[in-house]
Amino acid sequence: MRKGEKGILVAIAVIVLVFIGINSYRQTQVAEPDQGIPFYTTAATELQERGAHLLRLHACRDCHTLWGVRNPMQSVPSPALDGIGSLRSESWLYEYLSADDPQRILPTRLKAEYQMPSYAYLSETDRRTLAAYLASLRVEEWYLDEVKKSEYEKLTGETYRDGGDE
Ligand code: HEC
Repeated sequence: MRKGEKGILVAIAVIVLVFIGINSYRQTQVAEPDQGIPFYTTAATELQERGAHLLRLHACRDCHTLWGVRNPMQSVPSPALDGIGSLRSESWLYEYLSADDPQRILPTRLKAEYQMPSYAYLSETDRRTLAAYLASLRVEEWYLDEVKKSEYEKLTGETYRDGGDE
């Protein structure tokens, strides 16, 4: 190897090392404290199990995201159920699930086949269980605005600004 080539190799090695150094320094600087997953449930284990069972039985997750997992077959832009209990009360949820025409309570922008179906035909116990379980699905305060924004945009198809109540 000639002298000039050696010099170039050394220069490249130095540049690479400097970049690695800068990068690892930046990572220690930029890393924010991990706030974790903002969604949680206040339900006791038994309600969690009964609620999750009903959601599975009625295929709610064909249309709705829950626990951040999006069904890849899901094509309907329906609001996520994560954090829904921080937006809606248990009695609201019960009324909504019990309505013959849920679109009278919550207007839709979707074609009939994608809209929220009526679950008025379920037994009262099942509707109460679902409402209680949904009401237990909460979001941490620091992520609440994100949930409101995403719900608003799903329901209206419009961009959310300043509380979205224009
Ligand atoms: C065919 C798709 C579909 C299925 C299945 C479905 N939903 Fe929905 N749901 C929607 C859509 C779409 C909306 C938004 C309102 C509308 O467009 O009708 C909605 C709205 C809701 C809301 C109100 C959300 C909000 O922002 O306040 C709740 C709660 C809800 N659904 C729960 C359920 C539960 C529980 C099940 C199962 C028992 C279920 N959904 C099954 C499509 C669906």
